[in-house]
Amino acid sequence: MASPWMTEPQGLASSEAVAAKRDAESSGPPLRVFIKTYGCQMNVYDSERIAELLRGVGYAPTSEVEEADLVVLNTCHIREKATEKVFSELGKLKALKARKSAPGSSLILAVAGCVAQAEGEEILRRQPAVDLVVGPQSYQRLPELIALSHRATGRRLATDFAPQDKFDILGAGRQAHSAAAFLTVQEGCDKFCTFCVVPYTRGAEHSRPSAEIMAEAGSLVAGGVREITLLGQNVNAYRSDVGLADLIRRLASIPGLARIRYTTSHPRDMDDALIAAHAEVEALMPYLHLPVQSGSDRILRAMNRGHRAQDYLRLVERIRLARPDIALSSDFIVGFPGENEADFEATLDLVEEVRFASAFSFKYSRRPGTPAAAAQGQVEDQVKAERLARLQSRLDAQQKTFRDSLVGRTAPVLFERTGRLQGQIVGRSPWLQAVHCQASASLIGRVAHVAITSANANGLVGQLALEAA
Ligand code: 5AD
Ligand code: SF4
Repeated sequence: MASPWMTEPQGLASSEAVAAKRDAESSGPPLRVFIKTYGCQMNVYDSERIAELLRGVGYAPTSEVEEADLVVLNTCHIREKATEKVFSELGKLKALKARKSAPGSSLILAVAGCVAQAEGEEILRRQPAVDLVVGPQSYQRLPELIALSHRATGRRLATDFAPQDKFDILGAGRQAHSAAAFLTVQEGCDKFCTFCVVPYTRGAEHSRPSAEIMAEAGSLVAGGVREITLLGQNVNAYRSDVGLADLIRRLASIPGLARIRYTTSHPRDMDDALIAAHAEVEALMPYLHLPVQSGSDRILRAMNRGHRAQDYLRLVERIRLARPDIALSSDFIVGFPGENEADFEATLDLVEEVRFASAFSFKYSRRPGTPAAAAQGQVEDQVKAERLARLQSRLDAQQKTFRDSLVGRTAPVLFERTGRLQGQIVGRSPWLQAVHCQASASLIGRVAHVAITSANANGLVGQLALEAA
């Protein structure tokens, strides 16, 4: 896709990247980049990769926006609120950029992520302070685009879809920063739920080859990572030379990798092999995020979900048969166009039947360009708010029930960091709750058995039992 803002041919990429590195190395104080991430875990993963890529051309990360020479906003377009936040942040950054315009000081402003993809031209139109707009499949071009910004004026937009190039560059030389890491295995979505922007912002489904994933996982584990969460907008649609179940089995054979998770899954792609993996692969954690969105067949059809409420319930039964202690999580949308009280109650009924361990629920948000945005029967905001409150009170109660059921049990915990209290360390249970414990910081990066003594809204509290690994 050629664009009027793409001012330079792509072929300059590597020489410009080298030039950027040379500039960074040869002149003055080190350059600093401030990255702000919105939205999903995929964006968190991408932001880490962007930071590594930019480090290679001389930008050290900073947590102080005031001292940044480059600001990257990695944005989310899933709901209107997320998009609004980006434009308001850009307003603030415009003022910062104006303050930094003195000779010898400057600020490059880059917008990345899904708002960049969906509204790139709108961003450049609405916010003149923005220098670069780069979509999720074009991050490998950032060094080149930044180098061009150093050298010449002109604003640039890169929103092509070329996932292979992206992973070739972004996945290489992965460094570990903590005991738990994300690893993108699949991107994009072909499902076209009628409310969702993902198929437009992240493009068609694309799975990375298993060898590439194994190499990235291997370097993470060598660097001390003990838990890997496989990421994909439709992660269980993963299919390259192997499917997701086989990929998980291969990963489980990496010595030192104690835990594997994956998110986000679609009910339609939850196949027998993956369910069997939950029964058989010890490293695969008993937690599954499986969005259902609604409990009404009429609404599920209008959403183009490709499954009925019954299909979901039966699937849950099969998963629980394979792994009885699995913690199920879901996403819900209330106030989808045409949703009436009976439809909403069907959602409450489904919730009652499944008993979720955690969940995310949202008011339907009209997204430009999606079929549901133009549908008849848009629901009033007040009705959405009232339904959301009712749903969330049920889901909160279920989450508390699940948490409370763990009190008195002993569970393996992977410790990841120190806590806020003196002498406290924090890790995760197999079911993804945070676990707070008074114990030596030398346990960080290790799995230890913890007797769970209490539960609260922040997670679980426990005492060290015997050490496991
Ligand atoms: N309005 C409200 N929620 C949405 N989601 C996706 N699109 C919309 C929308 N237009 C929710 C879905 C999805 C989660 C990531 O965000 O529940 O699973
Ligand atoms: Fe969006 Fe998920 Fe539906 Fe794909 S499957 S269109 S990512 S809600």
